[in-house]
Amino acid sequence: MSAAPALLEVDRLTVHHGQLCAVREVSLSVRTGETFAIIGANGAGKSTLLRTIVGLHRATSGRVVLDGEDLTHARPDARLKAGIALVPEGRRLFPSLTVEENLLVGAYRARRGPFDVARVYELFEWMAARRRQRAAQLSGGEQQAVAIGRALVANPRVLLLDELSLGLAPVVVQRIYALLPELTAAGVTVLLVEQDVGQAVRVATRVQCLLEGSTTLTGTPAELTRPRIEAAYFGVAHEQEPEPR
Ligand SMILES: Nc1ncnc2c1ncn2[C@@H]1O[C@H](COP(=O)(O)OP(=O)(O)OP(=O)(O)O)[C@@H](O)[C@H]1O
Ligand SMILES: [Mg+2]
Repeated sequence: MSAAPALLEVDRLTVHHGQLCAVREVSLSVRTGETFAIIGANGAGKSTLLRTIVGLHRATSGRVVLDGEDLTHARPDARLKAGIALVPEGRRLFPSLTVEENLLVGAYRARRGPFDVARVYELFEWMAARRRQRAAQLSGGEQQAVAIGRALVANPRVLLLDELSLGLAPVVVQRIYALLPELTAAGVTVLLVEQDVGQAVRVATRVQCLLEGSTTLTGTPAELTRPRIEAAYFGVAHEQEPEPR
């Protein structure tokens, strides 16, 4: 075990959708300052895991703990106040509200911290000039930026990012991911979900793979060879797996 304390601890979390067990005994611990990536194929349970961490699904069993505070049974607004914010899959902006109105929704009852609407306009230089445009009129990449801004103005200690790259051109994805070091420098710890394994491995300090709700692999990018990742991701036995270096 590392000496660095965990900021966000997920302990043997199990989540059901009706009869379906979508997340099964998943544990992970995200240390302050990390960029922790969850990878996995469609339906692996990634979004269910993040949504349960922010309180949008109820855990069947297990715990969610932020900096020693057990939030397992806390309401979503209490978790936000405690410092966990989610950028949901598919952005989920309010399409008929303007860019600025969407950001202000995130600032409602925000924690104190470095981020406010003005700071978001510094992060995304194009945004201020388009603040009065409706979110529906923005491109996918622009909407993703607004969704990130909306989560940031809550000043989360841990920012959860659910598939930022979904439906975006590679160049746009790169631009968005290039932002992460700046967030880390501002004190934000990141837990992200990606189907794009290459992207996850490039930005993450640690990677955990889910397959049908269970953890199949965890390690640092340096420890995880491509065959090991592929085996964990697709659930195929790997015959000639090289020894970890
Ligand atoms: N609200 C829901 N009601 C019923 N079943 C659900 C619900 N949400 C997800 N599921 C099911 O739970 C499983 C995990 O879904 P989840 O969305 O968490 O996976 P994911 O890893 O995020 O997938 P993707 O990469 O496609 O986003 C899937 O089998 C999915 O069909
Ligand atoms: Mg998902």
